[in-house]
Amino acid sequence: MCIRDRIVSAQKLATNTQFKAYLNNDFNSVTAENDMKMRSIFIGPNNYDFSKGDAIISYAKQNGFRVFGHALIWHSSIPDWLVNFTGTDMAFEELIETYIKETVAHFSQEKIILNGQEISVVAGWDVVNEALNGDGTLRESIFLKVLGENYLETVYKMAEKYDSNADLAYNDYNLCKPKKREGAVKLIKSLQKNGAKINSVGIQAHWQLTSPTLEEIETSILAFSELGVKVMFTELDISVLPNPWELSGAEVTQNFKKFEGDKKMNPFPENLPDSVKEKLAKRYENIFKLFVKHKDKISRVTFWGVTDKFSWLNDWPIKGRTNYPLLFDRNY
Ligand code: XIL
Repeated sequence: MCIRDRIVSAQKLATNTQFKAYLNNDFNSVTAENDMKMRSIFIGPNNYDFSKGDAIISYAKQNGFRVFGHALIWHSSIPDWLVNFTGTDMAFEELIETYIKETVAHFSQEKIILNGQEISVVAGWDVVNEALNGDGTLRESIFLKVLGENYLETVYKMAEKYDSNADLAYNDYNLCKPKKREGAVKLIKSLQKNGAKINSVGIQAHWQLTSPTLEEIETSILAFSELGVKVMFTELDISVLPNPWELSGAEVTQNFKKFEGDKKMNPFPENLPDSVKEKLAKRYENIFKLFVKHKDKISRVTFWGVTDKFSWLNDWPIKGRTNYPLLFDRNY
């Protein structure tokens, strides 16, 4: 089944009717942009806030959507109290296990009837998000430091233990670049070899007009599906703005403050010229032709937003720009 997916927030579902109208028309799955991340949920030891996630689940239930959970373990979404944790390694592991248990068990309770079958609203989880460096090695993080280099195996097994029906995914960006793709292939093989359940790989599709190439995308679809996992294109958006990484050469920093307010970096503050609109439309067309070609290997395509107006790419990696990455413009 190919699921088309949009990200949402509990707040927009509660307040924005235009947003809901467009969401309900064309999509059958949603992902929370931030509301189901560790930072939103795990507010203290034994202290969980599921309220925003619950609002999304209840909306999904009423409207016949499924939800893909994003994301249990991500170095960028650790609550401050846990970043500063000073207890023993064992106490840390216990906290992580309890958090995974409480979270997946909580969200697995809500059911929906689809095609005559009762199933969980939450179809699965990005168990680990962005564990890899650009060269394919494991990223330094509190999880690597405290739980050790087999930590992915540990947390995938935990997720399976507490929701054995969920699809378990590994999600990351730049998975169409050779070194990182090879790193992910190695990681998935090692999970499989060690008996950890992994159903799918999420290729974050934060892409540009020309990069990655269709060939690079296709190579990744084939490389991952050969491992027996489904490919999901998650977080699809296509930036039409200058890419600061290219301008800064090898400087791989996310601190592009020096570009804030720079007109060269924000060339379309009023509207997108037709010539660029056409390139964007063609790019989406080519990408979707490729997706259709490989639809037997692709289980889901998620856009990282509904309208350009609320896209995170207006503020990342440079604050205060006007980007046009999604299917719907600022007036829907
Ligand atoms: C982003 C959200 O879109 C922002 O609102 C938030 O401030 C930061 O996170 N990779 C991911 C997503 O896996 O969770 C990120 O979402 C974008 C990059």
